[in-house]
Amino acid sequence: MCGIVGYIGDQKASDVIIKGLKRLEYRGYDSAGIATLNGKLLIKKSVGKVAALEENLTNSALDGNAGIGHTRWATHGEPNDVNAHPHTAQHKKFALVHNGIIENYDVLKKQLEQKGHSFATQTDTEVLAHLIEEIHESETMDFEKAVQLALNQVQGTFGIAVVHQDYPDMLIAARRGSPLLIGINGSEHFIASDASPIIEFTNKVVYLDDDEMAIIRNDSYEVKTIKDVPLTKSVHELAMSLEQIEKGGYEHFMLKEIYEQPQTIADCMRGRLMVDENRIQLGGIEAVVDKITNANRLIIAACGTSWHAALVGEYMFEYLAKKRVEVEYASEFRYQDPLVDENDVLLVISQSGETADTLAALREAKKRGATVIGICNVVGSTIARETDAGVYTHAGPEIGVASTKAFTAQVVVLAMMALQIGLRKGTIDEEQMRELIRHLDEVPEKVDQILNNQDNIKELSKLFTYAPNFLYLGRSYNFPVALEGALKLKEISYIHAEGYPAAEMKHGPIALIDQHMPVVVIAATDHTNEKMVSNIEEVRARKGRIISITNSNNGDVNRLSEFSITIPHTHDCFSPLLTVIPLQLIAYYIAVNRQCDVDKPRNLAKSVTVE
Ligand code: F6R
Repeated sequence: MCGIVGYIGDQKASDVIIKGLKRLEYRGYDSAGIATLNGKLLIKKSVGKVAALEENLTNSALDGNAGIGHTRWATHGEPNDVNAHPHTAQHKKFALVHNGIIENYDVLKKQLEQKGHSFATQTDTEVLAHLIEEIHESETMDFEKAVQLALNQVQGTFGIAVVHQDYPDMLIAARRGSPLLIGINGSEHFIASDASPIIEFTNKVVYLDDDEMAIIRNDSYEVKTIKDVPLTKSVHELAMSLEQIEKGGYEHFMLKEIYEQPQTIADCMRGRLMVDENRIQLGGIEAVVDKITNANRLIIAACGTSWHAALVGEYMFEYLAKKRVEVEYASEFRYQDPLVDENDVLLVISQSGETADTLAALREAKKRGATVIGICNVVGSTIARETDAGVYTHAGPEIGVASTKAFTAQVVVLAMMALQIGLRKGTIDEEQMRELIRHLDEVPEKVDQILNNQDNIKELSKLFTYAPNFLYLGRSYNFPVALEGALKLKEISYIHAEGYPAAEMKHGPIALIDQHMPVVVIAATDHTNEKMVSNIEEVRARKGRIISITNSNNGDVNRLSEFSITIPHTHDCFSPLLTVIPLQLIAYYIAVNRQCDVDKPRNLAKSVTVE
C-alpha cells in the first residue's frame, strides 16, 4: 500500500523515480509526488495516477541526482494535490514520503501545534515531518539523529524515505511494518517498497527489517536500528527479471497473468511433484513436516483471494490427509483471543507476503507458541522471512491488482502439502497417490485448453456487461471458487456480486432471483453434481439466467443452462484450478467492456500494508 522510490547516483533522479513509481503503481494510485535535490529542495505533486505527475514534470523538469517519490493509497486525508506525498514541515528544507499509518499522529500534532507548528494537510505523515523538524531545529540535533529520535516517538507503521537540501549526498530510509529495501549498484543506490522499480538497474538488495534505518549515499550505505545499534546486513540477489514485470504485448497485466497460469502452475510444481517417484517434495517445509502431520490442528489465516485459496485447502486437507483444519480471516484472528498453542500449526497464505493483517496473525500465533509456516509469492517478503518454514508459489511478480495466478499457485501448493501429509499419515495409499499426482500433473495442460477456447466467454461477457448484480454458486471445493468469482467481478467491474454455497441460496439469496439475475453455477461433474442440478432447477424456476461452468459430458447441467462454459475433467479436489479460470475471464471481459481500469481498480491497492 503506497509505493516508495528513492534514488541517489549519477542519473537524473526524477527519471529513475517516475519510471519506478509506474512499476509500483499497483500499490496505490490516487496521487503521486516527487522531491529532488538540486541545490535546493524541489517538489512536484499531482492528484491521480503517476502519468499525471509525469505530465506535470514535462512543464517544469525536476533536476538533481538525488530524490524520493511516492504513489499513494490514501489512509488519512482525501486524495488531492495537497495531501499527496512528499510532505515537508515549516521551513521546507526536507521532504518525506511515507507508507503506513502514524497511529499517535493526533497527540503528536496537538503537541506540535502548541509549539507553534501549523499544518497544511490532513495527513498523518506531515505530523512526522514536523516532529523531525522540531527535534532537528529546536534541539540543534544532527538531521539523521533527529529522524531517528522522531521515529522512536511514533506509534504505528512506517516505511519512509527522506531527503534534506543541506545534506545533498544523503537519503534516509526507515521501516516498521511497511516493506522497504535498498538496491545497490556500484556508485548508485535505490530505496524501494519492492524490487520492481530497481530490477532494471540492479539485482543486489538489502531488506530492511522492522525498526531499522539506513543512511544511504552514492557510494555507501549503513544500516542501524532506530535505537542506534549498527547492523551488518546481508546482500541478497534477486531472481526476478525485467520481462516478468512488463505487459509483454497484453492489454492488461491481469490478462497476461491469467494467460501465464499454465506456466506458473507448472513452475510451482517443478521439482516438487515427483511423478515418476510418486511423491511430493517440498523442501521449504521438510524440517516441520512431522510437526504439521502431528499437529493438533492446522489453522490457515489469510485475506481476500488468499483466504479463498485457504478454504479450498481446508477441503483438500480434510479429504486427503484427514487433518483438522480451521480457516480464519487474518484480519479477525488476533481479536478473537485465539486458542492457539504449541500443539497447533498456523499456515499463513499471502501473495505479497506483506499484508499487515496476515502478518499480525502470524505474530500472534508465534507469540502463543504455535509453529508458523507460510505460502508466499514474493521472495524475501516480510511474511516469508518471519515464518518458521514455508513454500514459495513461484508464480512470478503479480502486478494486476486483482489476484489470478497467485490464487492458482496457492491452491497447487496446498494440494501438494495435503498430498504429502496424506501419504505420510497413510490416509492416501500409493495407488491413490499415483492417480492424484497424475491429475495434478495434467492441470497446466487443461488450463491451457480452457484459455485456448474462450470465445464464448467473451461473447457472454458482452451480454451481461450491464447487469447490476451477479450471484455465484458452488458446492464443496467449488464453494470457495464461487466466492472468488464474485470477488473478481466486484473488484474490477464494480458490479455487486455475491458468492454462496449453492445450498445456502434457499436460506435467503433466492429472494433476489428474477429474470434479470445472472447466476453463475460452478458445477463440475463431481460428487455434488446431483445436488447442483437441483439448485439449478430452483434458479430456473425463478427465471434466473444460468451461466454454468461444467464438463462437456454433464448433460443435465448443460441442458438447464442458458450458457455453458465447458472445462476438462479432473479429480474433484483439483477442480478449483480449472473452474476459476473462466470466472477470471468473465470478470476481466466485463470490466473491459465497462471501460474500467482493470489493473488499477478504484480504491484498491495490491499490497495492503495497513491494518
Ligand atoms: C483480490 C486480491 C486481494 C488479496 C488480499 C490478500 O483480487 O488481490 O483480496 O488477495 O489483499 O493479499 P495477499 O495475498 O498479498 O496477502
